[in-house]
Amino acid sequence: MSTRDKVTLTTLLERKRSHQKFAVLTCYDYTHALIEEEAGVDAILVGDSAAQVILGHSTTLPATMDFLVTLAGAVRRGAPGAFLIGDMPYLSYHVNVEDAIRNAGRFMAEAGCDAVKVEVDGGMVATVEALARASIPVCAHLGLRPQAVHMAGGYRAQARDAESARRLIGDARAMEQAGACLLLLEAVPPEPARIVSEGTRLPVIGCGAGPACDGQVVVLHDMVGLTNGAAPRFVKRYADMRTEMARAIGAYLAEIRSGVYPATEHWYSMTAGEAAKLGDGS
Ligand code: KIV
Repeated sequence: MSTRDKVTLTTLLERKRSHQKFAVLTCYDYTHALIEEEAGVDAILVGDSAAQVILGHSTTLPATMDFLVTLAGAVRRGAPGAFLIGDMPYLSYHVNVEDAIRNAGRFMAEAGCDAVKVEVDGGMVATVEALARASIPVCAHLGLRPQAVHMAGGYRAQARDAESARRLIGDARAMEQAGACLLLLEAVPPEPARIVSEGTRLPVIGCGAGPACDGQVVVLHDMVGLTNGAAPRFVKRYADMRTEMARAIGAYLAEIRSGVYPATEHWYSMTAGEAAKLGDGS
């Protein structure tokens, strides 16, 4: 049961105004959401990275609306106090604005999200405007856009030269004017990230975008050391849960094979006198 005040958009705007940093993590299920809620994570992103982390795909593209809305609902039940962001999957907002509103509305109405995230560049202004007009708070994700991986030819840091950094800064301003409520910068050097962050009243979430951002987000499985393989360089690993889980599973296997588990305390006894009535079962 959560005892904290619900984190809202107003909370995040106030944090920005008062220079108090906030923490964002991804989450994809109820059990981990309970842990994040108890730890006091300010905002949770149900990222389309679920396609990789949960389903084992090599990109985020296979994530679907039904899948992410189901996960977001589970996370909301586990973390009622967090600001919850639903990640709009590939093709859920690209075809037309009507689709975008209908799909974003599902995160809000069915899963109880507080906002949706869309990967954008300057060409997505009309979509963000339409979502804002439909009273759907939008987090505009700029910089490295994993849904555009094939267009970009891989996962590369963005805005590394002055020209592309200026474009990013301009796109961020366009998103604020279009009605976005939050900005997210992925894999962007600290210099343009600072210019974006200092030039807006919107809370800016960094994901490998340096210290000037108002909040930070990483994938939960990367920061607790559960990820299979290398995490991006901007992730700091705070635990080695993969080793710990492998140790526990190894001990379980060994104890079953040696007969140590299950022991008396792990089984149920029959009501007094009933076992005798069974005889030998014949
Ligand atoms: O899907 C995701 O996890 C993201 C990142 C910003 C962490 O979009």
